[in-house]
Amino acid sequence: MHFSVFLVLFMCFCVINCSGGVPTCRQKVEGYVYTTLRCFNNTQSFPVADKPVISLECFDCNIPVLNQETILKRFVGEAFNLSNSHIHVISENVFSEFTKKTQRFIFENNEIDDVSPKVFSKFSKLEEINFRNSKISQLTAGIFDGTYVTELTLSENLFSGIDRIFEGLKVTRLNLSSNNIREIRKDSFARTIFIEGNVFPRDQRLDLSNNLIEKIYSGGFKCSDVNNCVKILELAKNSITRIESYTFLENSYLSELSLSENSITQLESNSFRGLINLKSLNLRHNLIQNIPVSMFADLQQLKTLDLSQNLISLLQLNTFSGLTSLEILNISHNSLETFNHLHILPLGRLTDLDISDIKLHHLNLTLILHTNFKLRNLILNDNFWICSDLIDLYKEMNKFGGFKSPTRHFEISNLHGIACSRQKLDSYEDLTFNKFLKIVSEDKQTTDWFDLKLHTNENIYTNDYAGNYLKKIYGMFVFIVIIVVLIIAYCIIKLIMQCLYDHNILKFHRLSFLYVQDQRNVQVCS
Ligand SMILES: *[C@@H]1O[C@H](CO)[C@@H](O)[C@H](O)[C@H]1NC(C)=O
Ligand SMILES: *[C@@H]1O[C@H](CO)[C@@H](O)[C@H](O)[C@H]1NC(C)=O
Ligand SMILES: *[C@@H]1O[C@H](CO)[C@@H](O)[C@H](O)[C@H]1NC(C)=O
Ligand SMILES: *[C@@H]1O[C@H](CO)[C@@H](O)[C@H](O)[C@H]1NC(C)=O
Ligand SMILES: *[C@@H]1O[C@H](CO)[C@@H](O)[C@H](O)[C@H]1NC(C)=O
Repeated sequence: MHFSVFLVLFMCFCVINCSGGVPTCRQKVEGYVYTTLRCFNNTQSFPVADKPVISLECFDCNIPVLNQETILKRFVGEAFNLSNSHIHVISENVFSEFTKKTQRFIFENNEIDDVSPKVFSKFSKLEEINFRNSKISQLTAGIFDGTYVTELTLSENLFSGIDRIFEGLKVTRLNLSSNNIREIRKDSFARTIFIEGNVFPRDQRLDLSNNLIEKIYSGGFKCSDVNNCVKILELAKNSITRIESYTFLENSYLSELSLSENSITQLESNSFRGLINLKSLNLRHNLIQNIPVSMFADLQQLKTLDLSQNLISLLQLNTFSGLTSLEILNISHNSLETFNHLHILPLGRLTDLDISDIKLHHLNLTLILHTNFKLRNLILNDNFWICSDLIDLYKEMNKFGGFKSPTRHFEISNLHGIACSRQKLDSYEDLTFNKFLKIVSEDKQTTDWFDLKLHTNENIYTNDYAGNYLKKIYGMFVFIVIIVVLIIAYCIIKLIMQCLYDHNILKFHRLSFLYVQDQRNVQVCS
């Protein structure tokens, strides 16, 4: 007797522990109609739910083949999430019993080998299909034909080619970042329709960053119908070395283009021809040495241009011609050595200019502000400034707010943290900023020239725009306080007078003007 009880207990123990955990799904009734389902421990198929399932959570499920046998029946929720479920195959018609309520399919972190064509096309308007990090290296051509989805994520997979995969797809955001894609061919996105979203962010976006793209064939992103074009194109962190002429000729609706962190050495005058609606161009961190004449001629709508972290050593006087709408120019971390108002003469709308770390030792800001009078933010850290010149620059810049985000070289000669040399150096040739810092640091006397000048030159302070502003606010504050005090004093005196008057202590008629007659209603201290 005792023995059999022990045996049963032992068997139970074994079922739970020796088999490595029981696949379990728990149903919880939600309201009268729906249930939620939570599955754990190696679940390989779902129980038949007695009521429609509105929410599914699958922790470490194991469903290699998702087909009509293994799929969860009676799912009516918004998000069907089978992430981390070791899915290899998604078979034909697998979602045929799903309702149109399904908005999201999430299959992150699986091991997908095959997805049957058009499994998603029965849904009229999906918000998301997500296959991030699912080891996909290839999908059948036309697999998304007839699929209409706001966001399709295929990032962090193993795609090397993408030919014809997206034919017939309608999408707002397509994410192909972090794959092994090597080139963009003429028809890579030929029959893909990029449609504006209904909710923010609405812009059509194609993310191809973090791939191995070396070559973009001319017309690779060709699009002529304003309603069906990519607006934001991300090509950062690839291996592009060259932007051939007319690559973007048929992309007149493109609004943002990022080519940062590539290896671009070669640009041609017609590299950006046709981008007549481009608002932002990012060429940060490439190997650009020369900017061909009239390369920006078509970019008349461009507002932001980032050329920082390149090897540009020379700007022509007409390098920036055409950029009549440009507001933000970042040319920091280059080797310009000279920079003056003539270089940015065409940029009449410029408000922000970053010229830090460009090996500059002289700048006439007065002349720049004369032609670029909208300039409000100038960043000029990490150049070879002479302290007295830097003070003049500071005075000039104080009219619009002083140094913006200065570096912090307080341990050597500096003005508010921007390093400067006490004297003009004998030569600026072959100088790097680190060498400059070394030269400056050999100067024994370390001072913030700002403090020094405070005692000798009051001018720097009276020019302080922010200081003036604060003074004005302070003056106004004092004025208001005085008025308030006067009003309170007046009321108190009035009250006292009234009391004195009421109690017949005071009878001087000379003072009664202070007291407004109406004693019958006002009974303050009776
Ligand atoms: C899953 O299995 C482990 C042992 O393998 C067990 O400790 C755990 O309670 C199980 N979880 C559920 C929800 O059954
Ligand atoms: C999908 O389910 C996984 C658990 O497997 C969870 O970690 C993840 O946050 C869920 N994703 C969404 C978008 O709900
Ligand atoms: C694309 O997906 C990656 C994650 O894999 C994410 O970091 C990135 O922000 C996404 N791109 C866009 C444009 O949403
Ligand atoms: C200019 O580019 C540099 C590096 O590429 C960046 O650190 C800096 O913040 C940028 N400046 C502005 C004003 O955005
Ligand atoms: C800037 O240029 C103007 C006109 O050429 C000149 O009068 C002025 O002294 C220059 N300022 C500096 C700081 O060199």
